Amino acid sequence: MPTAVSQTINFYKGKFQLKNEIKKFNLKNMDEALNICDLTTVINKFYTWKQLMPNVTPYYAVKCNDDPYIIKTLADLGAGFDCASKNEIKQVLELGVSPERIIFANPMKATSHIEYAKSENVTDSTVDNEFELYKIFKSFGESNVVLRFLSEAENALCPLGDKFGCDAFEDAAAVILLAGSLGMNVIGVSFHVGSGCSDYPAYERAISTGAQLFKFGKLIGHHMTLLDIGGGFPGDNDAMFAKIARVVNSSVDKYFKGIPVRVIGEPGRYFVAAAYTLVCKVYSKREIRDTDGRLKKIMYYINDGAYGTFNCLLYDHINIKAIHFESEVKETFNSLIWGPTCDALDKICDNLYLPNLKEGDFIAFPNMGAYTIPTASPFNGFSVPKTRYFLRSDFL
Ligand SMILES: Cc1ncc(COP(=O)(O)O)c(C=O)c1O
Repeated sequence: MPTAVSQTINFYKGKFQLKNEIKKFNLKNMDEALNICDLTTVINKFYTWKQLMPNVTPYYAVKCNDDPYIIKTLADLGAGFDCASKNEIKQVLELGVSPERIIFANPMKATSHIEYAKSENVTDSTVDNEFELYKIFKSFGESNVVLRFLSEAENALCPLGDKFGCDAFEDAAAVILLAGSLGMNVIGVSFHVGSGCSDYPAYERAISTGAQLFKFGKLIGHHMTLLDIGGGFPGDNDAMFAKIARVVNSSVDKYFKGIPVRVIGEPGRYFVAAAYTLVCKVYSKREIRDTDGRLKKIMYYINDGAYGTFNCLLYDHINIKAIHFESEVKETFNSLIWGPTCDALDKICDNLYLPNLKEGDFIAFPNMGAYTIPTASPFNGFSVPKTRYFLRSDFL
């Protein structure tokens, strides 16, 4: 495990018991929220991926959660990495990952980042237009090009198509031809259907388009070998993941029949979303009553919010699920949960039904591992929660 962080891993037997851990770590006496990361989930996800898509190598999208324990766990399992910047590449290399296991998958890159990739032999790079291709050519002409084309899901939490991906039928040919005339090799194609995809046929549409671009590239003389199916895989919906895996497998078989191809994916949230539970404490509350004095709502103020880990409300559009620890619930009340800052935008969830909680009670939020931690800020002086790591002891 990484030496860069002075944390220990806590081992448990059987089923993980969140309530016991809260007691053990004496959270009652802590005013900061705490991330509970179960690395067992990450490992299980890796094996599920291997079982359901044995011919697709996952390249974990570091942007999703750059925690060194996550990266090291996936590196030890044999995953590759999708890096978007010089620092992400550096972080992955420093954990002992070899450069061939990295794809520089941000289609727009600053020259200094391209030069760094060159100096470290990170040769596979995503591109979606001629300007960018020419820029790479100037500082890293030997770089391999992976052409990112646009092929979007109808339903995704975070569509990416407005920002990246060339039109496969209007624009891709120009990039492929320019690469050929510059003497650069287009080694393959990539797409991203959108993060948090629930439109699994989108993968078939994209793979079929990818196969057409492959054929065109080969015709031009490129040595095309790589199909990168991007991200989009849900982290907390196993049934949807299984459907996507089936579509991916059958589409690669159908559209790449007889074409030798190495397939990779760039899963982010798939590996980490369900591995994290955020444990927060109610430190203040208010009751809202109507003019007759009847209780309308209870408002709770907890120790992390929309400027901290819950920034995913804004950036990632996720549905927040809250769990309380009251064992005997006689009555529940319409409740609103606020974050700790002085901003009224700092609202976590409204109109959920909770028992009447008191100061010092805990609320836990599962599935908080994706697009939460790297984007959290200490606005208003509230620290970003620390993380404690867990692993089932028989996983060693
Ligand atoms: C290029 C690229 N690859 C992979 C991902 C990871 O996507 P996901 O978390 O949906 O798997 C992203 C997310 O934005 C991305 O931009």
